[in-house]
Amino acid sequence: MAFTISVLALTYLSVSVWAQSLQDVLRGGEERYKYPTSFTQGIVPKGIHSHNDYWRPLPFYTALSQGCISIESDVWLYNSTLFVGHEQSALTTSRTFQSLYIDPILSVLQRQNPSSPFVSSPTHNGVYDTDAGQTLYLFVDLKTSGLETWPYVVKALEPLRKANYLTTLNGTTLTIRPVTVIGTGNTPLSLVQPVTTRDYFWDAPIPTLNSTFSNITALVSPIASTSFTQTIGPVLGTSLNETQLLKLRAQVKVAHEKGIKVRYWDQPGWPIGTRDGIWRTLRSEGVDLINADDLEAAAGKNGDGEGW
Ligand SMILES: *[C@@H]1O[C@H](CO)[C@@H](O)[C@H](O)[C@H]1NC(C)=O
Ligand SMILES: *[C@@H]1O[C@H](CO)[C@@H](O)[C@H](O)[C@H]1NC(C)=O
Ligand SMILES: *[C@@H]1O[C@H](CO)[C@@H](O)[C@H](O)[C@H]1NC(C)=O
Ligand SMILES: *[C@@H]1O[C@H](CO)[C@@H](O)[C@H](O)[C@H]1NC(C)=O
Ligand SMILES: *[C@@H]1O[C@H](CO)[C@@H](O)[C@H](O)[C@H]1NC(C)=O
Repeated sequence: MAFTISVLALTYLSVSVWAQSLQDVLRGGEERYKYPTSFTQGIVPKGIHSHNDYWRPLPFYTALSQGCISIESDVWLYNSTLFVGHEQSALTTSRTFQSLYIDPILSVLQRQNPSSPFVSSPTHNGVYDTDAGQTLYLFVDLKTSGLETWPYVVKALEPLRKANYLTTLNGTTLTIRPVTVIGTGNTPLSLVQPVTTRDYFWDAPIPTLNSTFSNITALVSPIASTSFTQTIGPVLGTSLNETQLLKLRAQVKVAHEKGIKVRYWDQPGWPIGTRDGIWRTLRSEGVDLINADDLEAAAGKNGDGEGW
């Protein structure tokens, strides 16, 4: 009897000790179970573009938590500073391109690229621990004069440039790095295309890519975009009609043949059945980035895009 009790007591004791230490481990208390690049542990990157990213409670970080490989920042130049917001009345002095994007992105990349006795040369891991080679597309949408604003954007990228975190063109070849910057909105093509060595790119309009006069290559526009509503048109029901589907296919084909990825924006967000039906079609037709306002819905319940 005494023996049974002591065994029980022992079992109880060891279970509670075990439980306690497991809790500690799960809380991340135990040093040997931690690893340096665990910040985005378990998050699977997905072809989602976080539309109006700066509307989210924590710009960039919210998109990161859902595995978005693309984010967008609308910038306005005032007194030599780039402010972030959808319209002028939404701007505040604390919401700058540097504070909402450059600093947090740099901070995450520094965690993903620790220097340690095990690392012999500098690494260029991307923001996602599960796929270190995945670049993060940073669309910078210029709201103020392109010719005046773009040089400030190029300058603002300096901390990422200095750390070798930007995708670059050396004149002939792209080197993919953790962040790929793409100017959109008022970004002038004339300040991007003629520059032979650079670490920024241009968001070409998809419908112009098939023109015989177009000299846009993947070295200028690794990704091209267009308004879904303007090019494909309104959708009745939950799927595209034959004409729309053929047009979409033709556009995707032209872009992909040039090695250019595609993103459609301004597709219907409501009703939900239509939104989900279009997401499905875009994905099955090979569209590379799904533009989404509702990131959780786009990422899917299990984070795999399933469920829509
Ligand atoms: C820009 O600078 C001027 C002059 O210092 C100041 O009056 C104005 O409020 C500033 N505007 C912004 C958006 O900071
Ligand atoms: C660009 O980089 C590629 C690959 O490293 C190299 O083969 C090529 O010669 C470089 N081009 C220039 C202009 O430096
Ligand atoms: C390019 O594609 C558009 C549809 O996106 C079409 O209307 C136009 O005829 C095409 N132009 C050429 C030169 O193929
Ligand atoms: C591309 O074509 C435009 C005209 O459509 C021309 O102005 C420009 O110089 C060309 N750029 C290059 C790099 O060929
Ligand atoms: C397909 O939809 C577009 C846009 O709503 C419309 O203009 C076109 O007439 C439709 N075509 C067919 C064949 O239904």
